Amino acid sequence: FLVHAICTELNDISLNLARTYDWQCIDCKTCMACQKKTGEERMLICASCDRALHVDCCPGIDSIPEDDWYCSICSSMPSPSSIHSNPSPPLSNNDIAPRRKSTCQDPPLTPLSENHSTTRRLRQKRKGEDQPIISDVSNQPTSNFESSTIRGTPSKADKEMFDRAKLQAMVSLDLPKISQIRFGDYLVDTWYVAPYPEEYSQHPILYICEYCMKYMKSKYVAGRHKVNCPINHPPGDEIYRDGNISIFEVDGRKNKIYCQNLCLLAKMFLDHKTLYYDVEPFLFYVMTEVDKHGCHFVGYFSKEKRSSMNYNVSCILTMPIHQRKGYGQYLIDFSYLLSKQEGKTGSPERPLSDLGLLSYRSYWKNVIFRELQHQVDPISIEDNTSIPKSYRLEMDMDVINAHIKKMDERCLPHVDPSKLTWTPFALSRDRLAVLMGQQTIKNGEEHLDVDIVD
Ligand code: ACO
Ligand code: ZN
Repeated sequence: FLVHAICTELNDISLNLARTYDWQCIDCKTCMACQKKTGEERMLICASCDRALHVDCCPGIDSIPEDDWYCSICSSMPSPSSIHSNPSPPLSNNDIAPRRKSTCQDPPLTPLSENHSTTRRLRQKRKGEDQPIISDVSNQPTSNFESSTIRGTPSKADKEMFDRAKLQAMVSLDLPKISQIRFGDYLVDTWYVAPYPEEYSQHPILYICEYCMKYMKSKYVAGRHKVNCPINHPPGDEIYRDGNISIFEVDGRKNKIYCQNLCLLAKMFLDHKTLYYDVEPFLFYVMTEVDKHGCHFVGYFSKEKRSSMNYNVSCILTMPIHQRKGYGQYLIDFSYLLSKQEGKTGSPERPLSDLGLLSYRSYWKNVIFRELQHQVDPISIEDNTSIPKSYRLEMDMDVINAHIKKMDERCLPHVDPSKLTWTPFALSRDRLAVLMGQQTIKNGEEHLDVDIVD
């Protein structure tokens, strides 16, 4: 989601900090330790970065303090003065702050702005609390703190320091440690943290069934599951088959657990994704490579059943082991094929990730070049007042032809519209009302859900 800075009601300092991580609005806030959304009345909200933490997940604190509370990440920020006197020490085990009372109760040492830090350090002095964690800061004369108003914007050194502090905090809070997933025949390095339940996040390898997406914490359980997994393809309807490629449509309502697990998997390769649990309003188009063992997951995209913004893709992913083989473009092309079938225009949900942007640009370059290659009539640009009347499009056919030739030589897979067997998703009036938040489901409809559980 996009939020206006002003609507967050955060001050400039907090806003800058919120931009450095996956900020969540008040309705979506999850605890940074247990990742749960429940128990909001017991949540501490960091006065600096706006992160949330349950009182019960915060060692050494047992009730909501009356004063501002600062999370361990903000509390462990060294001051700008210490950055100058002690530049970028490497992070050793000794540097890692132990889980101790002070993590929650000490006043923060360094917010990113000098003005901010001055006020808080003064309060620290007045209260005469514990020594700060970083001794060279505590040894500075008070006047240094009060007069240091040199910078308001974080420097590169500040940012590096912030990243180290963040890492430090993650280690001390037992945040997810998953660095690889075992997926089908592959061991895949993960890129980002996903909010798997804590007991699953504490192992370096997470085992995920490539068919039903169940996640498991041990090789033994995964081995047993492999023998007993009830399916060898995604749930839902196979709506497209061309050679060894099959695409399934999976309904977030009928296969909730599968889709939630798919979203968690995707989060490990996406920085900004926010949807994990509320999968019912979405359909998932799952692309597989088929062999005699089954349909192996390659990638997917999700799509809102009803999009007020006309989005035809919410989130798209190719598993890293299958990237750069043209599957991303295949999925993008497939998403537009569905839109054409629906008689609609559509575009992907923004913001795009860096890789998403590259892929969409590359897709449209290919589509437009191919169109232009066969263009015989003069090209017109739809009348638009923002385009000057003198606007002209000049084409270098050599460039276009060379690009297409290069693409064709790679023999990338292409969507064949004739292989699609699909009718657009139609929502019943009741279901639509539920999605629009107008009423709850009656008459035991939920038994239609066919989630796989074992
Ligand atoms: N570096 C440079 N260019 C790249 C890269 C890369 N790592 N990856 C893709 N591209 C560009 C290239 O132009 C490429 O075409 P080329 O191979 O002809 O040069 C083009 O994108 C598409 O390549 P594909 O092979 O078709 O795409 P791929 O299967 O690799 O999937 C995707 C692209 C889905 C974006 C993949 O990188 C991915 O899953 N990334 C992680 C998740 C993500 O960021 N998803 C998009 C979020 S935005 C949204 O969901 C709406
Ligand atoms: Zn399975």
